[in-house]
Amino acid sequence: MLRTEFGALLCRGRKKRIVTLILILIFLINAMFYVSFELYNTVMRKNKKLWYNRLKYDKNSYVDESGMRVIVGHYVGGMGGGNLSEEIMHTNNYSPVPGAGEGGRPVQLSPRELITARELYTLHSYNILVSDRIAINRSLPDMRSDSCRSVVYDTEELPTASVIIVFHNEAWSTLMRTIMSVLMRSPQLLLKQ
Ligand SMILES: *[C@@H]1O[C@H](CO)[C@@H](O)[C@H](O)[C@H]1NC(C)=O
Ligand SMILES: *[C@@H]1O[C@H](CO)[C@@H](O)[C@H](O)[C@H]1NC(C)=O
Repeated sequence: MLRTEFGALLCRGRKKRIVTLILILIFLINAMFYVSFELYNTVMRKNKKLWYNRLKYDKNSYVDESGMRVIVGHYVGGMGGGNLSEEIMHTNNYSPVPGAGEGGRPVQLSPRELITARELYTLHSYNILVSDRIAINRSLPDMRSDSCRSVVYDTEELPTASVIIVFHNEAWSTLMRTIMSVLMRSPQLLLKQ
């Protein structure tokens, strides 16, 4: 009697242990799969070529006098989209309309102009038709918060600064507006270059 009870108890204990072992085994196998999957992904990521290395171009073309390879042509953003001629791409259509965009206000286009604007959008991925209409020296509201506006700096004490604007195939009007913005909104004393 005592023996059989003891035997059953032992049996139950063994069953529990086996179940625990199986659970641990399942966990370990899962963990192993997970680790190998992550390892595989890491290796694949390392071997994956960067997207721009896949671009094909003639290495000998577009080399300037200094031997530096330069890329000519405009950035054509968007997907597919515009089929613009070289002439359209390289024409400067800057012709500011008095008052357009002054004070940072939006520029309204007619439905007909919207079609042109959409075609030209592929050039720079922004609305160049509107940009060409806004004066490069357009006015803008002072967007600083009151707490910033009330701070007075002693410009005589501040160091001068050189502003470097990095650009590549930028549209003329937006690039010039950036430069004008720097010139118009910086204390002359502080602007070295
Ligand atoms: C783009 O225009 C050229 C010349 O008009 C034409 O030969 C070419 O098929 C056009 N490409 C597309 C994708 O429409
Ligand atoms: C921008 O330049 C034009 C022409 O020089 C001038 O008439 C206009 O007042 C200027 N606008 C601002 C905001 O300074």
